[in-house]
Amino acid sequence: MYQLNVTVKPVENCVYLVPLGDIHYGSWEFTEYSQEKLQGYINWIMAHDNAYTFLMGDILNCSTITSPGKPYQEKVDSSSQFIWAMNTFSPLAEANKILGIIKGNHEEQLEKSVGSKLNRSKEIAVALGIPYCGVDAYVMMNIQLPGTAKRTYYIYLAHGSGGGRKRGSKINRLSDMELICDADVYVCGHMHDVLPYRKDKWSPVKGRLVRRKVAFTISGSFLDYAPPPNEPAEGYGAQKMYEPICVGAPRIRLECDPKRQKDIHISI
Ligand SMILES: [Fe+2]
Repeated sequence: MYQLNVTVKPVENCVYLVPLGDIHYGSWEFTEYSQEKLQGYINWIMAHDNAYTFLMGDILNCSTITSPGKPYQEKVDSSSQFIWAMNTFSPLAEANKILGIIKGNHEEQLEKSVGSKLNRSKEIAVALGIPYCGVDAYVMMNIQLPGTAKRTYYIYLAHGSGGGRKRGSKINRLSDMELICDADVYVCGHMHDVLPYRKDKWSPVKGRLVRRKVAFTISGSFLDYAPPPNEPAEGYGAQKMYEPICVGAPRIRLECDPKRQKDIHISI
């Protein structure tokens, strides 16, 4: 996994991380509603000095003739998808609000189809000047407290794979992230849902056991499986009879009151 060390400043004793992933720009199911919702999140992050994002993969739909969704089912061609990503995420990148980007299976399918390293996620990273992390990332987020003190949150993010269609199996897949590494927050993409949960855990810290909060969430999606009823459905989700899902992302709030221990809240 790719390790990232970032230092950020809090506002009112907290920092926000809003992971953005499974946008699937280019898909028939990335609708006007999806664009509106995505822009809402971007505007919110831009408006808050203590808000950051991480790009979770499947940013672009990247259909190929050998992938399950076909290029003729897309609204936008591959080059235009890349240009959209530049236009959409440049303001966030210029404001140093994107911690990094991981690759999704949709960007991967483009590589598989041409048989070479045509890595759209890496191209986005280089063009935006943000870290490219491969398929997963371990972010050590150091939050600057008054004086020289810092509070560090450990966040493990992966695009992930599998998970199935049912919520129980998605939660099982998400909770498996804890088998890979220790962290305070686990964020998984791919499953096109949000589903946050939190648990307590005893951990040894400096010779004593401490109750620690650990939070998990799927990073959401911007596919709109409930498109306008006046448009004939053409998309992959409709074909597969996927249920309409929540379009959006979770907001992870990392508390850093110097008088209190670490605490995490996730809102959806
Ligand atoms: Fe996806």
